[in-house]
Amino acid sequence: SPIRLRDYRRPAWTAHTVELDVDLGIDATEITSRLTLRHDAEQPVPLRLDGEGLELLAISLDGRVLAPAEYHYDNSTLEVTGARDGSVLETRVRVHPAANTALEGLYLSGPRETGFLLTQCEAEGFRHITFFPDRPDVLARFTVTLRADRKRFPVLLAGGNPDGSGELADGRHWARFVDPHPKPSYLFALVAGRLESIQRDYVTADGRQVKLVIWSEANVIDRCHYALDALERSMRWDERTYGRNYDLDVFHVVATHDFNMGAMENKGLNIFNAKYLLADPDSSTDEEYRAVEAVVAHEYFHNWTGNRVTCRDWFQLSLKEGLTVFREQQFSADMNSPPLKRIEDVSLLRRTQFPEDAGPLAHPVRPAEYREINNFYTATVYEKGSELVRMLAGRLGQDGFRRGTDLYFERHDGRAATIEDFLAALGDANGIDLMPYLAWYAQSGTPRLHAKGEYNAARREYKLTLSQQTRATPAQPEKLPVPIPVKLSLFDQHGKMLPLYLDGQPAETEKVVVVDQATQQFVFRDIPAPPIPSLLRGFSAPVVLECNYTPAELALLLIHDADGFNRWEAGQQLAILAFDDLHGTDGSSACKAWCDALAALFESPEIDDALLADLLTPPGEIEFADRQSEVDPAKIRAQRQDLQSRLAQRIGATALHDRYQALCADTSQQLDAASQAKRRLKRRVLELLALIDATQAHALAARQYEHAPGMTDRLAALGVLVRDRAPQAAAFLADFRQRYADNPLALDKWFTEQAKLPGDPALASVMALENDPAFTLKNPNRARALLGTFASANPSGFHRADGAGYRLLAERLAQLDALNPQIAARLATAFNGWQRLEPVRREAAHAALDKLAKCDGLSPNLSEIISNVLRH
Ligand code: ARG
Ligand code: ZN
Repeated sequence: SPIRLRDYRRPAWTAHTVELDVDLGIDATEITSRLTLRHDAEQPVPLRLDGEGLELLAISLDGRVLAPAEYHYDNSTLEVTGARDGSVLETRVRVHPAANTALEGLYLSGPRETGFLLTQCEAEGFRHITFFPDRPDVLARFTVTLRADRKRFPVLLAGGNPDGSGELADGRHWARFVDPHPKPSYLFALVAGRLESIQRDYVTADGRQVKLVIWSEANVIDRCHYALDALERSMRWDERTYGRNYDLDVFHVVATHDFNMGAMENKGLNIFNAKYLLADPDSSTDEEYRAVEAVVAHEYFHNWTGNRVTCRDWFQLSLKEGLTVFREQQFSADMNSPPLKRIEDVSLLRRTQFPEDAGPLAHPVRPAEYREINNFYTATVYEKGSELVRMLAGRLGQDGFRRGTDLYFERHDGRAATIEDFLAALGDANGIDLMPYLAWYAQSGTPRLHAKGEYNAARREYKLTLSQQTRATPAQPEKLPVPIPVKLSLFDQHGKMLPLYLDGQPAETEKVVVVDQATQQFVFRDIPAPPIPSLLRGFSAPVVLECNYTPAELALLLIHDADGFNRWEAGQQLAILAFDDLHGTDGSSACKAWCDALAALFESPEIDDALLADLLTPPGEIEFADRQSEVDPAKIRAQRQDLQSRLAQRIGATALHDRYQALCADTSQQLDAASQAKRRLKRRVLELLALIDATQAHALAARQYEHAPGMTDRLAALGVLVRDRAPQAAAFLADFRQRYADNPLALDKWFTEQAKLPGDPALASVMALENDPAFTLKNPNRARALLGTFASANPSGFHRADGAGYRLLAERLAQLDALNPQIAARLATAFNGWQRLEPVRREAAHAALDKLAKCDGLSPNLSEIISNVLRH
């Protein structure tokens, strides 16, 4: 039965100190734990501790060995009689790291002879290591002593400050770590093995000397320098922007190739999926460099938003994740280009969160119930959660938001907090009631904002009517209005912004109005002629805007809007109009407007190369599918290709070719914005050229691959050749395969590119790749690279009319589930949206899902996703 938010109770038993002694071994590790317990007298219940599948070797209470009748362990809960406030419980357990394929708790990364041991505890992994009240509102002081064979495990790390180390008999050694900051068990971590490091001294703004150390296996340590720089930038930025200083003497970061997620913010010992830590020009693309910088920052920022102030329970997950994603987005915008970052983030939201919110997996940013918390590390909790914080920050302004976060940290430092606490602190610091925003956290579904403008020439008034409506979602038939901040400007017919006179407020060219009822009207005075509204500038709220723009109006905004994001957005909306009417009567006008505007921008010397590349990219296949009530992914792909071909035609092969050559003149491999922008545009231009002159484009791509100074250009070229199934593709794939045989992250991209093959040929390609000796379901990155890409990023390949894509995924999910339930459940979300497929595919998807649901022994993780996906 599910766990419900409304059933929350304070813990009856907590531990305020934990001493762990860990005797490390690859096959068996023994953990001795001493807990000093506290008991809440108002809840007189026996002591119960979480512990999943532990081999209990010894147990004593207050120094006395317990008799079998004094405790009971059913493999998931340990119950002990006779404990009282202040009791000390000592247990010794054994776990088996090398046999742990779920990668939760203590496990082995890499081969048993050379690999290293590490932990992943969030959300509930600590109970796989020892007995504990494994919930985030139990904060304890941790002292951890590690012991191991020095040869096999020369490096021993745990969270907190180092507190001594030394030799033991028989070639063994020990190291102790003390964390002065009370923390919940999910932030515990240890790492042990043969690792190399790079380091740097850092002095915080408040004067603390800190050693920053990045650890990895020896063969990749020279690819960690970029991450170390990014870490230092993040630390400075958080000092400047939020007044937050680091608070330990060391900050350790470790890279592993075996990780279920992106990275983890364990106190003082962050652990990263190597994909988000390693970077070098020969094997990382520009996008990957930016992702490394973003994830390093994200995990570092958690030190305050997550660790110093943590979550009362897992329903509050977005309290730390939404806020930390928002802080990372601000940081990345500051380090790179604000409009490009905004475009990237909104695209991600639309590609991942909107479909989630519109289908059977919809849940509020603060879910009301769950069965398996690991299934709730979702785009809704992270990305929509960040959008909610952005709205709050926008409402308060830069200084107001800083006052608010200062008060939040002051009030809740060292404690576990709730979303209400956050809203109260932000509001109290500014004398504003922000509680109406709680509705956003409680309600699932993407609100639709309908906009209608009416111009009254006689009164020189423009009346804007804004109405909101949120469709029912599976668990929530009734929806309420939420406060929607709409940042807007009005443009005249020449593309000039008009001063806005609204109810006696000072005239400005941009204003924010808040729509918090079903329908509201806003009247702008002294408007000389019918204006064109630019709405939701910067994407001021995570809603779907419905506004009956004409193609000409959107084209005007696309050319003139000074808000980089809204300029792009006008182009996206225009592309949607063009797509919808491609073969209709009216369509030619939208398509023509889109192509003409972009062709003009293509020639414009002012526009930034990277923004131009984004403007030249219509919404993706997933976004188009999200707007349709009966989805045929093959048709969507064909139509989107058609749309892009028309754009390419309009610009012309000669102009595309010339621009491509001009962009090729810059062969620098620098990471500065201008060089990155050139590579981005070069790729886009090549893709467009391939649509109208494949032979020429393939020849250029082949040259580009051969002379590529780095991965960005190499992969872009390979992608064009592979997706077009160009005659040159096989040779370059073979080259890539061989060149990166010893680089798993680069090899993942080799699998990914081939999993993206459009249409029916994708399946055979995926099945062949499953037989490649480098393929394994046991490595999450590899499984995601092939199966995750095929199922979630290649709609026309996965959604075959014969259902073979669905059957393949369902079979692999059953196999994967036995190894790693978290990854199986994550990949299963590819079935989201099957109800809106056209009937033939819908039937096939349903049959595959149904069969999978009937398999015996599915994990709680996978069953929850499958049963939710199946609900109507
Ligand atoms: N807290 C980590 C982060 O966002 C992610 C942990 C994901 N945990 C999980 N069980 N899926 O930085
Ligand atoms: Zn996070």
